[in-house]
Amino acid sequence: MRLVLLGAPGAGKGTQAKKLIEKYGIPQISTGDILRKAVADGTPLGKEAKIIMDKGELVTDSIVIGLVKERLAQDDCKKGYILDGFPRNTSQAETLDKVLSEMKSPLDVALSVDVDKDDLMKRLTGRRTCKSCQQMYNIYFSQAKKDGVCDKCGGDLFQRDDDKEATIKNRLDVYEKATAPLIDYYGKKGILKSVKGVGSIDEIFNKICSMLGA
Ligand code: AP5
Ligand code: MG
Repeated sequence: MRLVLLGAPGAGKGTQAKKLIEKYGIPQISTGDILRKAVADGTPLGKEAKIIMDKGELVTDSIVIGLVKERLAQDDCKKGYILDGFPRNTSQAETLDKVLSEMKSPLDVALSVDVDKDDLMKRLTGRRTCKSCQQMYNIYFSQAKKDGVCDKCGGDLFQRDDDKEATIKNRLDVYEKATAPLIDYYGKKGILKSVKGVGSIDEIFNKICSMLGA
């Protein structure tokens, strides 16, 4: 299955992707995670990306498209994949369509996870992520058993640099302007499915699985 996850910052794309990869045995390709790794590694790309990410703006299309193309060419993507955070605007979506049509492997589904703006702020300011395995927690909704320590692997939990209130506000604006139009884009292509991303993480996951026919 070749799936794109759409949804505002904090909608739960990463959270649901982590569960879907276990169920379907296909990789998650998160452009945000790839960029954060480049930032942590201090590569030239990471240094350039950090300035943009800290403002909540989008990294240049050519950089992100290059990263995704490289990732899609890897062997573990042959069975399918979950794109999380890509595409992020119409130009990225059109390029993706072109690349996938050259590979003769078009997308199966674009799944939009819909959450009201008021809920998103609390989810993002409360988010904590494991440095080692990227498992997500939330100080309001799903705390780790031991403060600051990952339940799954014992890694340290950290708060993302872009999860500050002012940056979150800009990320939400950028989402409305640049990314939300993709809901229509995939609707017109006839591959859009939408799920309300409210309720428990497992409830939402079960709804997604039944939509995907699993
Ligand atoms: P990216 O990493 O993609 O961030 P994002 O889109 O802002 O989305 P988030 O990761 O913040 O939210 P999510 O939907 O994954 O929510 P999560 O599951 O964590 O991008 C970061 C930056 O990188 C961008 O701003 C940009 O600069 C750059 N970038 C990335 N891709 C790019 C691209 N293609 N082009 C250009 N630039 C790009 O959940 C959030 C919290 O809510 C967690 O704490 C979680 O535990 C909690 N939660 C989840 N589900 C529930 C629930 N049902 N109930 C209660 N809490 C819940
Ligand atoms: Mg995410």
